[in-house]
Amino acid sequence: MADAEDNAMNGYQAAPTAQAGEAAASPDARQPQKGVTRRQLLRSMMWGSVGVWAAGSVASGVTMFWPRKVAGFGGKVEAGKVDDFKVNTVTKVAEGKFYLVRLPEGFVALYWKCPHLGCTVPWSPPENPGKFHCPCHSSVFAMTGQKLAGPTPRSMDIMKVEIVDGKVIVDTGKITERMNFSPSEITRA
Ligand code: FES
Repeated sequence: MADAEDNAMNGYQAAPTAQAGEAAASPDARQPQKGVTRRQLLRSMMWGSVGVWAAGSVASGVTMFWPRKVAGFGGKVEAGKVDDFKVNTVTKVAEGKFYLVRLPEGFVALYWKCPHLGCTVPWSPPENPGKFHCPCHSSVFAMTGQKLAGPTPRSMDIMKVEIVDGKVIVDTGKITERMNFSPSEITRA
């Protein structure tokens, strides 16, 4: 019985009992069955695992030595070229969740989250053109983010702005709270 099971696991098929004599005489009676044996299957699985491990190691090495450019909210966001922004305009940059304000002296980036309870503050809505007006509890801010009215505890938060090779770069990972607007917050263009 044990021999029969071993043979079956190794891909051998025992000849029918009634033809035992013939089977013993025939060289074809104990030939391996065609198809995949258990040993071959285990070997394939082992090499498959080694392949997956090697591919994972290569991928993490590439990621470590070739880091991807950080983009979107939480990283540095390229808003555009300096000349793309006209003086006294406000541009919404959804990718970084901020408004880029172009003043005569330079740029200020305002985080669009209301300092009161966190609603997104629209620029220049119909009910208050030329101002930021929060729809939740009606806090109002000037173009510089300076608080003007409503329950907000402070002015709109700002993000760090840099000018690199004629482009405006905003670091959305560096958000600063401030009570009031100060000209020192402007990044000169
Ligand atoms: S969340 Fe903006 S005023 Fe309350």
